[in-house]
Amino acid sequence: MNVYDSERMADVLRPLGYGMADGPEDADFVILNTCHIREKAAEKVYSELGRLKEIKLARTGAGGAGMTIAVAGCVAQAEGEELMRRAPVVDLVVGPQAYHQLPELIARTARSRGERLAADFAPEAKFDALPKARAVSGCTAFLTVQEGCDKFCTFCVVPYTRGAEYSRPAAAVIAEAESLASQGVREVTLLGQNVNAYAGGQGWTLAILVRRLGEIPGLDRIRYTTSHPRDMGDDLIAAHGEVEALMPYLHLPVQAGSDRVLKAMNRAHTAESYLRLVERIRAARPDIALSGDLIVGFPGESDADFEATLDLVREVGYAACFSFKYSRRPGTPAAAMGRQVDEAVKTERLARLNAILDEQRHGFDRDTVGKTLPVLFEKTGRNPGQLIGKTPYLQAVWVEGPVSLIGAIAPVHIGGTGPNSLSGSLTGSPAAAPSSEAA
Ligand code: 5AD
Ligand code: SF4
Repeated sequence: MNVYDSERMADVLRPLGYGMADGPEDADFVILNTCHIREKAAEKVYSELGRLKEIKLARTGAGGAGMTIAVAGCVAQAEGEELMRRAPVVDLVVGPQAYHQLPELIARTARSRGERLAADFAPEAKFDALPKARAVSGCTAFLTVQEGCDKFCTFCVVPYTRGAEYSRPAAAVIAEAESLASQGVREVTLLGQNVNAYAGGQGWTLAILVRRLGEIPGLDRIRYTTSHPRDMGDDLIAAHGEVEALMPYLHLPVQAGSDRVLKAMNRAHTAESYLRLVERIRAARPDIALSGDLIVGFPGESDADFEATLDLVREVGYAACFSFKYSRRPGTPAAAMGRQVDEAVKTERLARLNAILDEQRHGFDRDTVGKTLPVLFEKTGRNPGQLIGKTPYLQAVWVEGPVSLIGAIAPVHIGGTGPNSLSGSLTGSPAAAPSSEAA
């Protein structure tokens, strides 16, 4: 979502004459769009600011044009005041629901440092104010349809930084998707912290939205992320079996495999209910690739609890999965819980979990070898003549092929697997290249 927000910030600034710089050295204005989800991400902001300070000093010192530095995103929202105090190099701070006001903030900052706009949660006002035109490059795009979270998992800062659940009206989403498709976008990923809780008014659910977007000419691939198991409705599960454009890939975080831990996390599902849900999804779409998020070392997690997570992972079989050490976030209920787990134990558990997840991912990749899959080509590869694209299962794949195929979907025979990607070869004649998902 930060990628989407960053692109939209560029859209807001373009009418003021701003364009993208190649790096901070060439920039008059730098925005750090930040993440507060784990301590490491938040701490990175301060080290980045240290680096930017040098560049800023060098520019002004040499009699250059100077540089304005803004911090945006969830660190700005959660720690704006502290940021301004700790990092005098920062000129302004803007939260995730206020960045449409960047032009006014920049004008005010030119008069005096210290503008901070982070407090209000008004996603509606933001989306209304954002320019309708989006500058896109490439054949894939993100599209935020939902923001915020009412779930209050006890480890998570999102409900405090992004605010309550809000869904954009379906008409606005459809218009944005149509405009993307008219600019050559073939694949759109619908975004939301709880995207499957989407409720766009007048009965619009994510399932209905996906069906409607699937009718847009040229928009051949639809994905969505991130989902909560609790909001995985029958209509959405059915859509996975019925909507051709809906890709067979689902990111469905479970977080842990022990019911005791899930309860302490306030997840409102059990390991068993998650497994049954996975069964129903696979019944609707047998080839679906599953992904998720897992946390190790939540307060009070015992060896047996952790083993339950490994058992669940073995039972699900993920195609790709994200795993994190629990990070104690200020202001969240879990931060105040007793029996915090030692860092060394977290490290060891994460390594054991990752060994299984890596094996599952490689296994999933190996199973695609020998198959012919439709690949959407996104860009050229590192070596001349190479193209990189994605399979329906979100695997990166490279082939030898003409640059003219970028933006097209073409059948690829998968020949091998690497650590992070597949390799393959184009099959059939170039005439078979554009537009069809059918391989
Ligand atoms: N510590 C570790 N991981 C976290 N996540 C959210 N909050 C924390 C935290 N405090 C993870 C969850 C979530 C993903 C986006 O980040 O797994 O699904
Ligand atoms: Fe955070 Fe997701 Fe839980 Fe919401 S549902 S509190 S965003 S982990």
